[in-house]
Amino acid sequence: MKVIVTKNYAESCKFVADHIVNLVNKDPKVKLGLATGGTAEPIYTEIVKLYNEKKVDFSQVTTVNLDEYVGAKPDNEISYRYYMNHWLFDHINIDKNNTYVANGLNNIDDEIKLFNEKLYGDKQVAFQLLGVGVSGHIGFNESGDKLTAGVHIEDLQQSTIDANARYFDSPDDVPRKAFTMGVGDIMRAKSVLLIATGDSKINVMREILTNDSVTTKVPATLLKLHADSTVVVDEDLARKCGYLK
Ligand code: PGA
Repeated sequence: MKVIVTKNYAESCKFVADHIVNLVNKDPKVKLGLATGGTAEPIYTEIVKLYNEKKVDFSQVTTVNLDEYVGAKPDNEISYRYYMNHWLFDHINIDKNNTYVANGLNNIDDEIKLFNEKLYGDKQVAFQLLGVGVSGHIGFNESGDKLTAGVHIEDLQQSTIDANARYFDSPDDVPRKAFTMGVGDIMRAKSVLLIATGDSKINVMREILTNDSVTTKVPATLLKLHADSTVVVDEDLARKCGYLK
């Protein structure tokens, strides 16, 4: 696992945006795995800026997103489809038919089948972007005694519900279940990159960066097993979690 320590979060986001743009420039038909969450927002803003500067062309790119709330209407602003359109897809020349975010309203079995087709129907996901939850989840794969390899419905943990409540009128409105890629799906991407910032991620980054353990209690530690994984973290968090002395 490669670790990149940047001066600050803005530099982390610029690094990740440049990396994604380089991947698209190298392979205009690349298949990208994308993520939502507060941490990723400035990455997408930076990608849109590079697109406006004509540094990249998304017309042939395909994307698959990590997860979506069960029951979320795609055009409702709490949905991850809405997030992706709002932060990225509406501002670049990607064909939205080539983007996939699970439809939270669909029949669960049908949607899981479709999710798998999007992941495995043609080429391999070349790059998977990841944030990390306060308890160490990747996608919505929550910590516990065991993890699920394939696409499935996950029950969200209280810490996830609490962290995501900021996007809802009331914590009671946060959906309790989500479609998510399983950890096996994430590990099958050719390369994976996790970005983290902020004090709420100190404990989880300590588990990822300061020991050699892999545990289902902190699903993000699985990245230590991936042949091409990168963690991007700013100096402040790297210091607070004990990675930098
Ligand atoms: P955040 O979410 O970027 O909003 O902290 C990350 C995640 O839960 O994966």
